[in-house]
Amino acid sequence: MRVDVVTVFPAYLDALDLSLPGRARRNGLLDLRVHDLRDFTHDRHRTVDDTPAGGGAGMVMRPEPWGEALDALDLDGATLVVPTPAGEPLTQARARDLATRERLVVACGRYEGIDQRVVDHARTRTEVVEVSLGDYVLNGGEVAALAVVEAVVRLLPGVVGNPASLVEESHEAGLLEAPVYTRPPSWRGLDVPPVLLSGDHARVAAWRADAAARRTAERRPDLLHASRVVDGWEVVPAV
Ligand code: ADE
Repeated sequence: MRVDVVTVFPAYLDALDLSLPGRARRNGLLDLRVHDLRDFTHDRHRTVDDTPAGGGAGMVMRPEPWGEALDALDLDGATLVVPTPAGEPLTQARARDLATRERLVVACGRYEGIDQRVVDHARTRTEVVEVSLGDYVLNGGEVAALAVVEAVVRLLPGVVGNPASLVEESHEAGLLEAPVYTRPPSWRGLDVPPVLLSGDHARVAAWRADAAARRTAERRPDLLHASRVVDGWEVVPAV
């Protein structure tokens, strides 16, 4: 997969040299290119922002540098990902969907955001997905770009060593993952649940399913179509 990231802070993306995305890059599974938006400005101060039309606080990213950057990258056939707190929530389903694309271009906004015409114009040329990491405001799209790239790249074939580990994760089954333990069996007076040491795979699977359902009902009831039954939850994942 090829991923182009456009940002005024290219160094933010240096973290993608590490860990799994870094290995994917070295193995040729990920072709990641980071571009400085200011390279597409023409004034001495390399200006990328201006005051908001209609007034108000903060600054808005001007459309011209973005237009030039996206033209230079040739959007045709790519999916443009625009992180914004006004976007659709980034979910595991969306990550799986994006992992099927051949090429992503991630446009990292700063300040109050990018002039809307950039996104509207891009939509006439290619698929555009505006994504939000969650209901809070970051200073810009770079942290979200890191999250998108990491969530997507680990789903590419060959990137995660043991693909079975992807299957049991939080959100893959529409539920949060059960708690996990390793050695030693007892630590600071706390024991690994005995069933996990029983060697009985069916009981382990049943315990995990139950723990995942309880956790999800407690922490993320929004993920469930749950109906109260006599002594607990009848759990139906929403996806
Ligand atoms: N940019 C600023 N806040 C953001 C958020 N919550 N998600 C994605 N991009 C953002």
